[in-house]
Amino acid sequence: MNISKSIELFNRAQESIPGGVNSPVRAFKSVGGTPIFFQSAKGAYLYDVDGNRYLDYINSWGPMILGHAFDPVVKAIQEKALDSTSFGAPTELEVDMAELVKSMVPNVDLIRMVSSGTEACMSAIRLARGYTGWNKIIKFEGCYHGHADSFLVKAGSGVATFNIQTVPGVTAGVSADTLTAPFNDLDAVKKLIEEHKNEIAAVIIEPVPGNMGCIIPEPGFLEGLRNICTEEGIVLIFDEVMTGFRLAQGGAQERLNIDADLVTYGKVIGAGMPVGAFGGKMEIMKQIAPLGNVYQAGTLSGNPIAMIAGYTLLSYLKSNPVVYSDLEEKSNYLKNGLEKVFEESGVPFVINSMGSMISVHFSQQPVIDFASASSANNALFNKFFHAMLKRGIYLPPSAFETWFLSNALTQKDLDITIEAAKESLAEIL
Ligand SMILES: Cc1ncc(COP(=O)(O)O)c(C=O)c1O
Repeated sequence: MNISKSIELFNRAQESIPGGVNSPVRAFKSVGGTPIFFQSAKGAYLYDVDGNRYLDYINSWGPMILGHAFDPVVKAIQEKALDSTSFGAPTELEVDMAELVKSMVPNVDLIRMVSSGTEACMSAIRLARGYTGWNKIIKFEGCYHGHADSFLVKAGSGVATFNIQTVPGVTAGVSADTLTAPFNDLDAVKKLIEEHKNEIAAVIIEPVPGNMGCIIPEPGFLEGLRNICTEEGIVLIFDEVMTGFRLAQGGAQERLNIDADLVTYGKVIGAGMPVGAFGGKMEIMKQIAPLGNVYQAGTLSGNPIAMIAGYTLLSYLKSNPVVYSDLEEKSNYLKNGLEKVFEESGVPFVINSMGSMISVHFSQQPVIDFASASSANNALFNKFFHAMLKRGIYLPPSAFETWFLSNALTQKDLDITIEAAKESLAEIL
């Protein structure tokens, strides 16, 4: 595969952008090699600057649930841009968007739009602190909630990929307020809460983590968290930046039948535009300025181009629930096909999946938390990644990331992927 233009661009990029990229996991640093520079994408396919075509299992890290350049979204953006790209003042579309989200997620009373998942999670934490008057938070090892200071303690995604133990620039004071527990370990959470009575403002969790590969919550774990938080007056925050509008219309809350107090969104809610949001129970949300004194703001929050993209995509998902059963079928088909070729190859493996999130770990033991994800053979994953890339399959360049399916994938695309996996395993084992 000729990627000479990508190589040339990456060399140029490194002269003026840190590491040549505007977000670390794009750099291929852990898997080695040159990141691919893209030109365009349509449906399930990406086209790079050298004219190569790839089947996409990253989908912009989640937003493109119906595939790239989905016609209604593209058209809506084009039309809306003619009315101005920003007002910094209220628009009807923001009201429509808030009402639409509320109709899809019944336990959201109020919702505030922001411009990224990081901003959403950071704001939700501040709100929980302001509401409870307590300072500490509990997060889970290997979960990623964006790059705000409080979250860069035992974080997943790029922080795990690059094995960064402590992030320079995050003060000890901030880190001391972030307590961590292993995912799926309710006893560890109970112990932390016992040790820090009336100090913990929030438990924040990816209900189905995607930032250490895809991890499935064990039965009773999230229910247990819900109960403890209720008993102790702690705000339960579901970070649904990945799972929101992806695992179901109402996200993981709907799929797993658990109500969080606050929920954060990103990715699908913006259809590929910079959008995040946080929302939840009236009693808590009414503390946000200008209703309350918990200050939070944004010049471009509720931006009309971003809103029309998200609104168009969410409206489509709401009126076409078949998307979710289609995605589930595709994901199961892929999982079954991959399991067959992995078994035939003899390599120890674990494939975790829920809805349209799926990931592969080369592991002999179940992968249920960060420790088990880290002890998998991730060097082998890196080889697998390159072997797949060579065959035109674009997977996340790290075992600490989930794959995202789009509904643009056809059965033929999935068969091509399974065949590529078979050839890749034969090449690398
Ligand atoms: C679960 C989760 N929360 C928060 C974030 C941060 O979102 P953003 O990258 O839009 O700031 C991410 C990003 O991948 C995420 O996966």
